[in-house]
Amino acid sequence: MTDPREPKQAKGVFIKTYGCQMNVYDSERMRDVLRPLGYAPVDSADEADLVVLNTCHIREKATEKVYSELGQLKLTKQARGGNLTIAVAGCVAQAEGAEIMRRQPAVDLVLGPQSYHKLPEMIARASRAVGDRLETEFETLEKFDALPKTREADGPTAFLSVQEGCDKFCTFCVVPYTRGAELSRPVDDIAMEARSLAAQGVREITLLGQNVNAFHGAAPALTNEADWTLGQLVRHIAKVGGIERIRYTTSHPRDMDDDLIAAHGDVPEMMPFLHLPVQSGSDNILKAMNRGHTADEYREIIRKVREARPDIAIASDFIVGFPGESDADFEATMQLVRDVDYAIAYSFKYSARPGTPAADMFGQVPEEVKDARLQQLQQLLREQQTAFNRSKIGQTVPVLITGKGRNPGQAHGRSPWLQAVHFELPQDHAMTIPDLKGRIVDVRVIDASLNSLSGELVGEVAEMREAAL
Ligand code: SAH
Ligand code: SF4
Ligand code: F3S
Repeated sequence: MTDPREPKQAKGVFIKTYGCQMNVYDSERMRDVLRPLGYAPVDSADEADLVVLNTCHIREKATEKVYSELGQLKLTKQARGGNLTIAVAGCVAQAEGAEIMRRQPAVDLVLGPQSYHKLPEMIARASRAVGDRLETEFETLEKFDALPKTREADGPTAFLSVQEGCDKFCTFCVVPYTRGAELSRPVDDIAMEARSLAAQGVREITLLGQNVNAFHGAAPALTNEADWTLGQLVRHIAKVGGIERIRYTTSHPRDMDDDLIAAHGDVPEMMPFLHLPVQSGSDNILKAMNRGHTADEYREIIRKVREARPDIAIASDFIVGFPGESDADFEATMQLVRDVDYAIAYSFKYSARPGTPAADMFGQVPEEVKDARLQQLQQLLREQQTAFNRSKIGQTVPVLITGKGRNPGQAHGRSPWLQAVHFELPQDHAMTIPDLKGRIVDVRVIDASLNSLSGELVGEVAEMREAAL
């Protein structure tokens, strides 16, 4: 007799994730919700009974990708006589709702980012073809409260959502509409999730939020204190046994307070990396974007952060061709990049998003001007990124081993500055890469390129092997 607690039959779920780390986290949580229903993750739509596209609405291209993927899935579904459930989740689901099912009738379910805990109920409704197949309500903390309390960790690094939504309303951005108002989780809940991850071997946690440094979650119940800031949260999570590295993303310059900056200097677990998007170096454009700070105020924040942690790697996002951007405005962005000297940065051509204020502004910039500016900016950013990586050559750096490298006998890991590191293990190394996963080892950097460092193992593990000989 089968155990009634066991799922009746294994089914496959394939979740395809687009967009930001928040979606990566949410996709993991959807897998957690589906596991008790007997859904095991599979690697492609071909093996799946349920496909979830976890979508991104940030730029037009991101949205269009979803519809072309849905066109493919429709063919798969037809070939199987309809035996495939197709769900659209994420920010396109939130922004376009029922329109998605009108545009692509093969879609069975549409659910926004606050509704993932309702996935089981919706799948049941879809299979009976009754009830609502659309969930795009915002229900404050319900999502986090209703998701399973435990998580399955996948390797030594993990994302942990601490804040969702955004109240900044930058004039180009859809996030305040797709993710709703800013909302922080209580510190006790976050600490519980961190402990559960640590117990499963996670060593590095990235605290996530659309506007993570605006965090203001309920203080731990025992303290009787008012809401805590991100700086306080970081100090608290640093005490969780097993958590050796902490990062956070993405921050807004306006919420970069002194305590958080100080934490970069005095919390050993805090990694020397700060992703602080600036978007533009022109005060006129920053104003039109509603960013709420000037280019010099941003420079001053960077100066303070570097004072607290001199080796910190600074990262950013840029938009070129925002409405009204002149050659002089663009030059101001180039100058800011020269002044700050970034370790890495992401840059995009402005994409007009329906419903956002900037979409209707005068002075939309022609595509070819955007193309030329993007190329110029990216050329400079690539030079800075390569120079930053090369500055580590000759140094011995602590690397968190995350898995196998590109070649046999090679391991792959992460430096404190979020660089990918490949290094050789000694040929007759007694330990296999799975044994080493999650360890932090010393690697001497021998070479560096645009996207990674390469080096050789020194210290602890190499010594262990020599001692054994
Ligand atoms: N919350 C984060 C990131 C938001 S989206 C922040 O405030 O920085 C990630 C990046 O996408 C943004 O930083 C911005 O550079 C880019 N982006 C957002 N909307 C865009 C648009 N309409 N066109 C082009 N790029 C955009
Ligand atoms: Fe979008 Fe601005 Fe909020 Fe970032 S801060 S999510 S760019 S509105
Ligand atoms: Fe995209 Fe939504 Fe993230 S629009 S960038 S997936 S918050």
